[in-house]
Amino acid sequence: MMKTIGFIDSGLGGITIMIPVLESFPFLNGVYIADQMYAPYGEKASKTVRMRLEKAIEVLVNRGVDMIVVACNTASTQLRKSGYDVPVIGMIKPIMDDVNHSEAKHILVLSTRLTSTSGIYQSAFEETRTKTDVKACPTLIEHVESQAFMNPGSSRFVRHRLKRLKRHRYDAVVLGCTHFGWLKDDINEAFPEADIISGTDGLIRILRRMLKKKDAAHEGTLLMCSTGDISAIRSLALSVGNRTIRYETISLEDESVESKGQKQEDS
Ligand code: DGL
Repeated sequence: MMKTIGFIDSGLGGITIMIPVLESFPFLNGVYIADQMYAPYGEKASKTVRMRLEKAIEVLVNRGVDMIVVACNTASTQLRKSGYDVPVIGMIKPIMDDVNHSEAKHILVLSTRLTSTSGIYQSAFEETRTKTDVKACPTLIEHVESQAFMNPGSSRFVRHRLKRLKRHRYDAVVLGCTHFGWLKDDINEAFPEADIISGTDGLIRILRRMLKKKDAAHEGTLLMCSTGDISAIRSLALSVGNRTIRYETISLEDESVESKGQKQEDS
């Protein structure tokens, strides 16, 4: 039986995590939810992000996914420890895993405001005895979400913003917001001495332990959903292996309200 993996982000960021995952596991079907109606998550109250995350998880479970990747650091800070109907993996653990695999001693974490104020990376890295600076970069997140990163001149703007953060020589720069995956080349140029850590390798290691390649002969499908204007995602003209990609506008409200009604009837 083919398995389906769900991905959740506020917008375009999680796509940079989804693509390498689906390329590593071509036999998986994928469903991606971009909650663009509520982007950016990093500027919202934690309880709003938690509420949207719970709804998105419910919608994916209703659509029959077997596991979920919260491909958003900000939403990952709001994940419950347990109690979901399917395995739900956030980005914090994979990033920690990648950092532990590196030799880095002095780390810069680029994140959203909510991730930074949650203190999650500050305390996580304390245990690994690395020196850590966590910086919120909402302007760069907006730069990605508005698709300005696709315009000529984007690199100059991004490198200029990054230069202001460069107070030390860092061994590693952690993409503590998945939107920065789209700016990886510019980040690399701005910090040429640093390893760039996104958590993707750690995530693939975790998934490899969970999945068996039973259906390797068949390539999965991909459904891209947005709570906002789906044409933004469509215009990225994604290609993920040879997968057929479908696009859909969804409302988390309608689908999760329906599911609540369903659950009540069933019990
Ligand atoms: N991509 C998200 C993250 O990894 C959040 C961006 C936002 O919506 O603020 O944190």
